Amino acid sequence: MSDKKKKHISYRPTVLPPEVREGQSVELLKALHILTRDGQLNQDSRRKLKQVYHLYQFIEPLLQELADAAAPCTLADHGAGKSYLGFILYDLFFKQREVGHIFGIETRQELVQRSEELAAHLQFPRMRFLNLSVEASITSTDLPAQIDMVTALHACNTATDDAIRFALHKKARFIVLVPCCQAEVAAVLRQHKNKMLGQTPLSEMWRHAIHTREFGSHLTNVLRCLALEAYGYQVTVTELVGWEHSMKNELIIARYTGQRRGNAQQRLLAILQEFGLEELTPRFLPDMPVAAQGEQEAV
Ligand SMILES: C[S@@+](CC[C@H](N)C(=O)[O-])C[C@H]1O[C@@H](n2cnc3c(N)ncnc32)[C@H](O)[C@@H]1O
Repeated sequence: MSDKKKKHISYRPTVLPPEVREGQSVELLKALHILTRDGQLNQDSRRKLKQVYHLYQFIEPLLQELADAAAPCTLADHGAGKSYLGFILYDLFFKQREVGHIFGIETRQELVQRSEELAAHLQFPRMRFLNLSVEASITSTDLPAQIDMVTALHACNTATDDAIRFALHKKARFIVLVPCCQAEVAAVLRQHKNKMLGQTPLSEMWRHAIHTREFGSHLTNVLRCLALEAYGYQVTVTELVGWEHSMKNELIIARYTGQRRGNAQQRLLAILQEFGLEELTPRFLPDMPVAAQGEQEAV
């Protein structure tokens, strides 16, 4: 066999690092640069794998709950990028089951194509990648009418809000978000800054440029949580340590219970008003009649 041919064959090393779990694809871990070519971990990749497991520990029980309830286990990952999350979930959870599909939604065609090639190479047949924006995916006929779990990890700017809208439309049981920087609220705060400085001492919270950005980002996530509660989700907010070296590590997990938190919508509207953000109401409460009560309507 020529050396050129040999180079393309990857062997499963006889001794894998103890962090690699039983049945985990060595090929995948190499493709994700978690394992080196000779099947080992270096300091950086050991940390990366630890982060992956940390996130998986939040998602796996939710997937298990779906599987126990015989739900179809369809998952849409928005702003998928290289579909790191989707591949890991497929490898650790979906692969050994006969049902369940993962859809990766991504606007960059070259990443979609690369993920398609990797899924074909790994023989992960129940993964699909769609070159769509999150917004377009809401009405795309390439996706099923119902999706059980929606994830969006560092989906840029308002793509996280579109992912929430997608989840509401698809009646997702679970939503897992790690929001990225969101510039829209900060832009509106900036626009009305002078007026608000004269109106409320609270405007000190965003007077300086860096505070406008940070406060805008914090406020955005607070509004997202209230919106989810207003739509009948129970929300948990926690920290995702060190994912991809990003500073944005807020993890929002929402579970659909159908019980709207009584005052969530009122509080959301009051906060928008307090901070001069009323024009963003449709962003956080898409299509919801202001006095909506009872069961979740289709959005
Ligand atoms: C920071 S990367 C995160 C990738 C991946 N989720 C991760 O955590 O490794 C954000 C990705 O979202 C994609 N993206 C941004 N806006 C989008 C939109 N509106 N619809 C779909 N994809 C989007 C970008 O092309 C990019 O690949």
